[in-house]
Amino acid sequence: MKIAMIGTGYVGLVSGVCFAEFGFETICVDKDTSRLETLMKGKSPFYEPGLDNLLNKHINVTRYLTFSSDLKSSVKNSDIVFITVGTPSKRLDNDADLTGIFNASREIAESIDKYTLIVTKSTVPVGTTQKIKEIVLEKIPKEKFDVVSNPEFLREGSAIDDFMRPDRVVIGTETKKSDDLMRKIYRPLFILETPIVSTSIKTAEIIKYASNSFLATKITFINEVADLCEATGANVNDISKAMGLDKRIGSKFLHAGPGFGGSCFPKDLRAFSSTAKKHGINLSIVDAVNHSNEIRPKKIVTKIASYYNNNFKDITLSILGLSFKPNTDDIRESTSLIIIKNLLEKNAKIKVYDPQAMENTKKIFENLIYCKNAYDACENSQGLIIATEWNEFRALNLEKLKSLLTNKVIFDLRNIYNSNEITSKGIKYFGIGI
Ligand code: UDX
Repeated sequence: MKIAMIGTGYVGLVSGVCFAEFGFETICVDKDTSRLETLMKGKSPFYEPGLDNLLNKHINVTRYLTFSSDLKSSVKNSDIVFITVGTPSKRLDNDADLTGIFNASREIAESIDKYTLIVTKSTVPVGTTQKIKEIVLEKIPKEKFDVVSNPEFLREGSAIDDFMRPDRVVIGTETKKSDDLMRKIYRPLFILETPIVSTSIKTAEIIKYASNSFLATKITFINEVADLCEATGANVNDISKAMGLDKRIGSKFLHAGPGFGGSCFPKDLRAFSSTAKKHGINLSIVDAVNHSNEIRPKKIVTKIASYYNNNFKDITLSILGLSFKPNTDDIRESTSLIIIKNLLEKNAKIKVYDPQAMENTKKIFENLIYCKNAYDACENSQGLIIATEWNEFRALNLEKLKSLLTNKVIFDLRNIYNSNEITSKGIKYFGIGI
């Protein structure tokens, strides 16, 4: 069975590489030829742990993985075609922009000459896979294809592991034949007894948005509880721990911080709410989460600013962490960057360091001081903000930090340090909700 992935973005590339690891001949298709050139050399265009290794293995050793800019011939030679193009937020409203999805569908329709499964893996609003079917039906008789919704749940930074050891696989189909075929390509996961949830297509599409919205709700809930902790002197870390031990709640995604970011949660929540509104349904919780998360980085800046009496004249701050989470160079909707923008507007000077995301950040902010490492970033600055919890920031030499900072204060937006540990060194400490 041969697989084609249309789109070599995050989802397409990781999934393509992982299907090759499962032993399927997989061709990854993209219009961007310079991206393909990089990929053919075994180099990922973005940072994801383990991806380059697998790319090299399946390009050069097994040769299961190939790349092409020719969508038509790639589709003709495949049995299953995954649509993995981006669905960003539209510029003027909160809807997902489906232009790429529908363009790909039209091209796929022009290429099919035998029974082919067309699978949406991109995150798409409910009803989109049905529209893809209608587009393809304009050119291809219904016996020659089936459409499927197979949403991804990959987290950046651990995407390969998430693909290889998922909590579940969701397969939305309308025929037994397509469900059987999908189960075949996920057969390697049967050894791990991974639950495969078969649903209708519309249900599968909503599962993705509902899951992301629920996780984002958990984060936002604990963030607001953290605010209450700050106002009352309670400790949000202890609250998360105690709440998480209740098996009905669970400990994951209860870590208070500066708000969620990234390429998925913010845009998916906006699109989920917008789709629901079109169906006359008000997802008021999702709207509240969105609003709460949007104002959160600004509230954090206000808190930091009050420490400096709202005057950043001659103040240089150090920021550790630029990516929206550790183990990625992705800065899309990163709260660290929103905080930086707000601080720059208040005339603070900013020194930054991130293990992977500096190059991407340079394209947005030219006027930051980019540093070699965490200590370099802290030299002669009047305060340190830890914005992303990279492992290498978890055990900094506190004596050294103290000697480098001219004003000894740490704003730990990820609660990676123990307050007593820092204050006992003579450094002021502000966490989130503690
Ligand atoms: C998310 C989903 O987890 C994944 O299943 C989906 O397919 C894509 O979107 P990702 O965006 O890679 O994955 O990151 P995730 O680990 O979910 O974190 C999202 C944001 O929430 C980050 O900004 C992170 O810092 C924040 N977060 C996460 C918290 O603030 N607290 C937490 O407890 C967990």
